[in-house]
Amino acid sequence: MKRLLRAVPIAAAASLAMPAHAQFAKPEDAYKYRASVMFLQSQHMGRINGQLKSDKPDLALVAENAAILDVVNKLSFTAFPEGSDMLANSRAKPEVWSQAAKFKQYADRLNVDVGRLLAASKGGDLAATREAFQATAKVCKACHDDFRRD
Ligand code: HEC
Repeated sequence: MKRLLRAVPIAAAASLAMPAHAQFAKPEDAYKYRASVMFLQSQHMGRINGQLKSDKPDLALVAENAAILDVVNKLSFTAFPEGSDMLANSRAKPEVWSQAAKFKQYADRLNVDVGRLLAASKGGDLAATREAFQATAKVCKACHDDFRRD
């Protein structure tokens, strides 16, 4: 397992603009890391959704959450080293690795849409914020449909 983890293609990993080298002592750590990150993503998406559903959405609060998402997103995709789909808890499909380019496209798309969400909410543009939020949620779902087991 350790050998597999070291064999993560450097080029692919580096192209995700990662903040630090994704090195995990054990595959379980990679799983825990990405599950933690995705939990944060869902929490902050939920808070934004709550604002956008309210009568008077607070766009400053949306922007605060979007800024967190903007950082957190970039972490999750550093946490899929080869071999870490073999864990009992993992719902990652083997396609994460066999269709790595497509997986990365979703990751990149998410970064673009969250960037738009952040800009729109910072700028106080409610319509653009709603649109970018819908787009972001769609990417989460599309990637899960293709790359996550039920
Ligand atoms: C590039 C693909 C991709 C994108 C984009 C993506 N996810 Fe995920 N997500 C996954 C995969 C794969 C798993 C399963 C990981 C595992 O179980 O090993 C997962 C798991 C999760 C989980 C379950 C974590 C757990 O406890 O096991 C949550 C919650 C989640 N994602 C939320 C989100 C949210 C919210 C977004 C959008 C802001 C998002 N994801 C975007 C691929 C993606």
